Amino acid sequence: MKIYKLMLTTAIGVVVAMGFGTGPAAAKGKLNYYCSAQEDWCQLMAKGFEKETGIKVNMSRKSSGETFAQIKAESRNPKGDVWWGGTGDPHLQAAEEGLTEPYVTPIRGELNGWAISQAKSADDKTIGIYSGALGYGYNADVLKQNNLPVPACWKDLLKPVYKGHVQMANPNSSGTAYTTLATIVQLFGEEEGFEFMKGLHKNINQYTKSGSAPIKAAARGENTIGIVFLHDAVKQAVKGFPIVAVAPCEGTGYEIGSMSIIKGSRNMEEAKKFYDFALRADIQSRALEVKAFQVPSNKAAKTSPKAPKLADIKLIDYDFKKYGSSSERKRLLKKWDDEVKSLAK
Ligand code: G6P
Repeated sequence: MKIYKLMLTTAIGVVVAMGFGTGPAAAKGKLNYYCSAQEDWCQLMAKGFEKETGIKVNMSRKSSGETFAQIKAESRNPKGDVWWGGTGDPHLQAAEEGLTEPYVTPIRGELNGWAISQAKSADDKTIGIYSGALGYGYNADVLKQNNLPVPACWKDLLKPVYKGHVQMANPNSSGTAYTTLATIVQLFGEEEGFEFMKGLHKNINQYTKSGSAPIKAAARGENTIGIVFLHDAVKQAVKGFPIVAVAPCEGTGYEIGSMSIIKGSRNMEEAKKFYDFALRADIQSRALEVKAFQVPSNKAAKTSPKAPKLADIKLIDYDFKKYGSSSERKRLLKKWDDEVKSLAK
């Protein structure tokens, strides 16, 4: 009797193994995932999703403006399924240009108002996943070695003593740098704002491709001041580098880091699964494992006491609708290329 039972169980086991156990990756689908946040966070999200669902993730990490350009270039023959992270402005532009797909997640009610507003302003073609304020960070040791004063305001960065000591990204490729350009224009007005960008250009040692590169260079001692999101500066400080984050005295802009499903996605079901996964509180709380100190969009997600507190920072009323519109983003970038980037130093 006992032997018979055992044989039966084994037989069922074999059937189960044949039916469901073979080739789980092929059976459970795949996801082409475009990521514009920090590489370590992108990886954590990809691995976590793969582990939970068995869906195979192919990841590609590029800056926000670069990913927008890629999705646009591929629009006749889309290769990506979901775009997670990066500043909201190019996600809004993608929505306006019909490059992304509307989707309303069942867990929308768990999110902060700013994340939902982002969705509403784009007919549900994007949504907020995190938020963070812009500013800059400096390497305190390098500053001292060069006998430089401690900067506290945006306008301090124009002082001739900082020549060759400031780094920012190129606003065409980087969402961080586009947020900087749009912030300066909103703070000082367009005319004065462009004069500021021209003055800053004289002190810039390099325009990098990625938004966070300037503060990573400062952490290594290869640069002094990096214009970045404050959470990116705090991450380097928490890692033990002599980096100090500065919320500029005049006030500053901020981002609503976003997520969108790519129109024409060939793995739509998997893309929606990832979208719901990425908005869950337990998943957003995992950002702290990679020292990503943005404000999460899910109200129940964990934050760290080390994270910059938006309530303590003088924030401008950043006009996402205007600066994320296709015409304004194109116009400002062209003007920056023509009037700032091409200037001799
Ligand atoms: C970093 C920040 C993100 C931001 C992103 C934009 O990863 O941590 O909050 O969204 O930069 O990247 P980009 O390279 O486009 O400036």
